[in-house]
Amino acid sequence: MSKRWYIAIAVLAVIAGGLALAVWEPAIPAADEASRQDFSPGQVERGKVLAGIGNCGTCHTVSPDKPFAGGVEFPSPFGSLYSTNISPHPQDGIGRWPREAFVRAMREGVSREGSHLYPAFPFTHFKNITDEDLDALYAYFMTREPVAYTPPQNDLSFPFNLRFLQWGWKLLFFDPDPWQPDPERGEQWNRGAYLAKGLGHCSACHTPRNFMQAEKKDRAYAGALVDNWYATALDESQPVPVHWDRESLYEYLREGTSRFQGVAVGSMGEVVHRGLRLAPDSDIRALATYTESLSGGRNNGNSRQIAAETITAAQQRARSEYSPGEELYVAACAACHYNDPQDPLAVRAELSLNSAVTADDPTNLLRVVMEGVGTGAGTPTLVMPGFSTLSDENLVALADFLRERSNLPPWKNLRKRIGELRELHRQSQPSATGKAGEQP
Ligand code: HEC
Ligand code: HEC
Ligand code: HEC
Repeated sequence: MSKRWYIAIAVLAVIAGGLALAVWEPAIPAADEASRQDFSPGQVERGKVLAGIGNCGTCHTVSPDKPFAGGVEFPSPFGSLYSTNISPHPQDGIGRWPREAFVRAMREGVSREGSHLYPAFPFTHFKNITDEDLDALYAYFMTREPVAYTPPQNDLSFPFNLRFLQWGWKLLFFDPDPWQPDPERGEQWNRGAYLAKGLGHCSACHTPRNFMQAEKKDRAYAGALVDNWYATALDESQPVPVHWDRESLYEYLREGTSRFQGVAVGSMGEVVHRGLRLAPDSDIRALATYTESLSGGRNNGNSRQIAAETITAAQQRARSEYSPGEELYVAACAACHYNDPQDPLAVRAELSLNSAVTADDPTNLLRVVMEGVGTGAGTPTLVMPGFSTLSDENLVALADFLRERSNLPPWKNLRKRIGELRELHRQSQPSATGKAGEQP
């Protein structure tokens, strides 16, 4: 080999070494198991509430007998990733992680050993959590039951299986600076923004992502399909005829119900009935205040009038164009979803007002009709039966009718979507609309 080759190899080795140093974070030495006595009961209790708001249990628990032991699958076009064991087990979990390592993982997305974590773990939001709240979370997790369990190996395809490449992702899409309160806004708004942008990671589901799975900054809260549920737009493009206001948002986030816009099902059912269940009322009010501001205050205080007009228009439209979809609606749905002509607002869940019907994406309507709504979702005291036995053709007719009645264009690709959802049901039990929720 010529001398030139040796020099070239040496130069490459130096570049690779330099890159490796830049890309790899140092490991933080394992500590003795964190002892229970170090944490005050008040801190642990606060941590429990915060862990709920952060939905740690939803993403890190497969079955209730293995709380926080990980193994939840995150499918992607590049293969599957599995959440880790965050119970305090010394080998399988984070039992020997010093506080410093926990904080680094939450704020920078780096594991104790120094490797980069994938953004399916919302460290991109958790970076905004205060020291005090992180301490409480750490106290809570270190005092859980250690669970011996190793989640399945990830099966991501090359090059997505190379963790160090996440360094490049972070360089492009991750701003490590924490969110700062806005002095122009009130205390309640700022509290809501802190919870939404941090622990609550609301935009992780409600914001569309680019092909590299990063949230599109210019389309914050514009609505997105996540895990086969459509997280409805919350910005000024929100599709509901009666726009959300502070009161309806409070009721929705507290009880899972709203008078006009619909109920919380699917992954949002989990957020409300499992995640926010223990959050104090003041935090729910704060979240409602912040969420209302996302639409630039589109509700002008005329909720009842707009609702009444929308319902009357829908009824007239339905009467003028009788269709096979309407026949089905009358036979299968109208026994529960009907209006009293004397008082159109008397019956709840009028579908021309409902975001599952008015959204750009048909997923929520199709899933609600096929799976029904169990006691663990929506209004806990109300259930709706599932209609999975309806043929594809009937589902299309029904959806077309409901769109027409709301004066909206028909959804495209309905058949394809129905096929995909049926396939999903074949693979797994309908997960979504009914699991009663105990944390975790
Ligand atoms: C949206 C799903 C999701 C939520 C919500 C979530 N996690 Fe995770 N978390 C993950 C995934 C997926 C990983 C694994 C990432 C990887 O392997 O790169 C992970 C990894 C972690 C890790 C790194 C563990 C290790 O061994 O490297 C910690 C610590 C962690 N999560 C703590 C939490 C805490 C605390 C909460 C709640 C405040 C939480 N997570 C909420 C999905 C989630
Ligand atoms: C895990 C994904 C996920 C997270 C996290 C999430 N949402 Fe949602 N959200 C959804 C889905 C899916 C829907 C549609 C559910 C339905 O129609 O019943 C939804 C619906 C909503 C709605 C009703 C919109 C409408 O017009 O029907 C509101 C309001 C809302 N979310 C607020 C929030 C807030 C505030 C947070 C943060 C605390 C949040 N969401 C976090 C998935 C999520
Ligand atoms: C036995 C009564 C009953 C029948 C029949 C019924 N529903 Fe429902 N439906 C309900 C109830 C009750 C709710 C509210 C559930 C809750 O609050 O938890 C609901 C909610 C809904 C929602 C709102 C979901 C959301 O996310 O806000 C839609 C959409 C819907 N139904 C469509 C239909 C369609 C279409 C049919 C006919 C195929 C139908 N329903 C038949 C009782 C029924």
